[in-house]
Amino acid sequence: MNGTEDRARYAGISEPPDGVPTLTVAELEADPHGVFRAWRPRLPFVGHEVAGFLVLRARDVDLLMRDPRVQATETLYPETRGITEGPLFDIFAHGMLTANGVVHRRRRSPFTRTFATRIIEGLRPRIRSAAESLVRDWMPEGEVDLVERYTALIPAQTIADILGLPRGDIPRFTRLAYEVSRVLSFTFGPEDIPDLEAAAVALQDYVLAMLKARRSPPGDDFLSRFLAEADAVGELTPQEVVIQLVQMIIGGTDTTRVAGAMQVALLLQHPEQWAAVSRDPSLIPAAVVESLRYEPSVGSAGRVAREEIRLDGHVVPAGSLILLSTLSALRDEAVYAHPDTFDIRRTDLPRLHPIFGGGAHRCIGEALARVELEEGLRALMRVAPRLRLTGAMPVLQGHSGIRRIDALRVAA
Ligand code: HEM
Repeated sequence: MNGTEDRARYAGISEPPDGVPTLTVAELEADPHGVFRAWRPRLPFVGHEVAGFLVLRARDVDLLMRDPRVQATETLYPETRGITEGPLFDIFAHGMLTANGVVHRRRRSPFTRTFATRIIEGLRPRIRSAAESLVRDWMPEGEVDLVERYTALIPAQTIADILGLPRGDIPRFTRLAYEVSRVLSFTFGPEDIPDLEAAAVALQDYVLAMLKARRSPPGDDFLSRFLAEADAVGELTPQEVVIQLVQMIIGGTDTTRVAGAMQVALLLQHPEQWAAVSRDPSLIPAAVVESLRYEPSVGSAGRVAREEIRLDGHVVPAGSLILLSTLSALRDEAVYAHPDTFDIRRTDLPRLHPIFGGGAHRCIGEALARVELEEGLRALMRVAPRLRLTGAMPVLQGHSGIRRIDALRVAA
């Protein structure tokens, strides 16, 4: 999308075609897997009360991630929610996640080297020993909330180290990141906007203050190198620099904290699979990817249809907002045998895991997330092999964007 002419064509919300229902956020939130299971065999997409259309089938989700007829949403989504300026709007207007074409490449490219698989693999030993020392910290306490004491801290410490943020700032920037990430969940109402905006201002101010401090004198960390490069090349505006770092902090913390908790909960809920991984650590990567399939921490990727899109005889009108539902696609019975069964030994997962999206926007932090999730599990298996659930099995809430988890009560 470029320019006012295009913008006028993209209204965001369109009337659903005949026979396609519009689902409410309330029913989607109440039982997303159940709703998708019911509709997926009947229709390739359903209407969404707020976000246009939800594409349900794995094949369509995969193809549309890479289809030039659909694009990132730029500022269309906040505009449909009545947000037309301000700190939340800026995250969409100046970030890589919602950008297209050369603008997207310009914003993304300074990060690609830092997050390349080879570089991230070099962090593995440090992440491993940090995870083991976290487990040793809380083990003597008996029962703890594993989200707060462990699965939130592994990604938060790692992203703090990569970006050169002081570890003492973790409680502050993670609290703000979790709050701002709610804007992608479609569950907030107009009454929540002031709180979300306050968190977005505070997070942007925090990054701005860090940047000022880092410019003089520069260190040898990622942030100093990134700033030197950004200053030298002059390709990113000061506001773009801030917003890319905000997106890194959000993407690098909330997603992986939720996934880290859910994989532990799922394995503990299936004790024979926990025992198998504990006996044979070579099963750890398979346990991580199956957990990401069974209960993904990100439920969807947002797009806009530049043109009419025909799926299995039904038409998504041009100009519509679309949610490509990874949550639905990852349980598609056309791809996965017994999709509602958690099975770390399944062999039908695609090599490129769909949870990390596809095409130009495929997750930049995939290699990092995998290392964090694998090492988080390995440290528990090594140091706390008798871990057990002491509270209820947590429910991963949400049907889109970054999903939410409350607590995971365990004892070692
Ligand atoms: C389990 C953990 C993670 C999951 C499930 C996940 C999922 C995703 C998905 C589905 C996308 C594509 C969104 C789209 O196409 O609209 C994405 C993009 C992105 N992710 Fe992740 N992510 C995870 C971890 C991370 C980490 C650790 C980082 C930070 C280092 C990160 C940073 C980003 C960024 C910056 C983008 C935007 C890329 C772009 O637009 O070019 N993510 N992620």
